[in-house]
Amino acid sequence: MKKITLIYFLLFVAFLKAQHIDAPDRIILNLTEQPSSSIAVTWHTNESHDNSFVELAEATKWIEFKDSAIKTPAQMNELNYKGNLSYTYSAVLNDLKPNTLYVYRVGYDSVTSEWNQFRTASDTDQPFRFVYFGDPQNGIREDLARVFRKALMTAPEASFWLFAGDLTDLPDESMWKEWFDATGFIHRIVPSIMAIGNHDLYFEMADGKKKKTDKYPLWQSLFTLPENGPEGLEESVYYVDYQGVRFIVLNTNYRLKDQAEWLENILSDNPNKWTVVTYHHPVYSTGEGRDNKDIRETFMPIFDKFNVDLVLQGHDHTYARTYKIYNGKISDDESKGTVYVTSVSGPKQYPANPMYKDLIAKLGTFTQLFQVIDIQGDRLIYNSYTVTGELYDHFELKK
Ligand SMILES: [Fe+2]
Repeated sequence: MKKITLIYFLLFVAFLKAQHIDAPDRIILNLTEQPSSSIAVTWHTNESHDNSFVELAEATKWIEFKDSAIKTPAQMNELNYKGNLSYTYSAVLNDLKPNTLYVYRVGYDSVTSEWNQFRTASDTDQPFRFVYFGDPQNGIREDLARVFRKALMTAPEASFWLFAGDLTDLPDESMWKEWFDATGFIHRIVPSIMAIGNHDLYFEMADGKKKKTDKYPLWQSLFTLPENGPEGLEESVYYVDYQGVRFIVLNTNYRLKDQAEWLENILSDNPNKWTVVTYHHPVYSTGEGRDNKDIRETFMPIFDKFNVDLVLQGHDHTYARTYKIYNGKISDDESKGTVYVTSVSGPKQYPANPMYKDLIAKLGTFTQLFQVIDIQGDRLIYNSYTVTGELYDHFELKK
């Protein structure tokens, strides 16, 4: 009897082994510097696969696109992060047609993901919409999944999603696993750009305390973001031009002066009608004992000088949207000024301490939010929604 049990057990183990497939997961699209002609794809597997690839074709109404699909080899990145060995793969797909629907899948050998679709940006200033999220950070699987799903249902045709940092509370494997569980298939079909927050940085333990570093290896392995920023800040400081809008992503954790110099350069040569900047630490903090004076003094004069329209921030775990601000005051000139928003998508929220209450048009907290922003020629239309679907804040900017 014992012998038979053992045989059954061994057969069962052999069956499980035969069934094991190291399927690609954590598949994510990122915008590149040229979203009308290229896109970046990144994914992960548990074991290493040298011959990994992305397969791409123009979408068709049936499955005949498969006959014309072209394989692009992926670059493998082996990362040993605090004892966790992980393998990620990335490829930038170039020479794409503007405003065109493509299908792609990723894989190795005969193991592939499902086919997914995305649309490239137009090469003209066509109207579009994007979604902006403040800090997710905590309870990602438990409390963020419904925010992401409601955002997708509210703006299913959004061109991309934008995150203002602190995507996870700690840069570790288990949290990123939660992240990709919570976002589900969304990252596979809606491209993203993200700013790096303080919690996204690698840390070291010193004297029993966490000490933040200026490194972000997991971020760089999980995403493939533009590398057109200052040297050493690749994939955390960059810009993307999308249908008449220059999106600039800053890293407010360190090296502010280097970024200010770079920012002046790219703003002095900006052919786009609109300019949107995103970064993590807000210039007008709403949290008690928080004040980012360096960031305010370094960047706000540049935003004023080059008429930045909208600044999207996080970090304070509250909601605050200013009036149009110019030179630190509410602008009385319709053509000048910048609107600064702080928002939060995650469950961790703080009381709103109205340190700058005179500048703030809408202040709130203990509400999980996402923002849908439309660019329509001379109009920028901003709507903030609660996770339960109610309109929470609204304004428009006109050129
Ligand atoms: Fe933060």
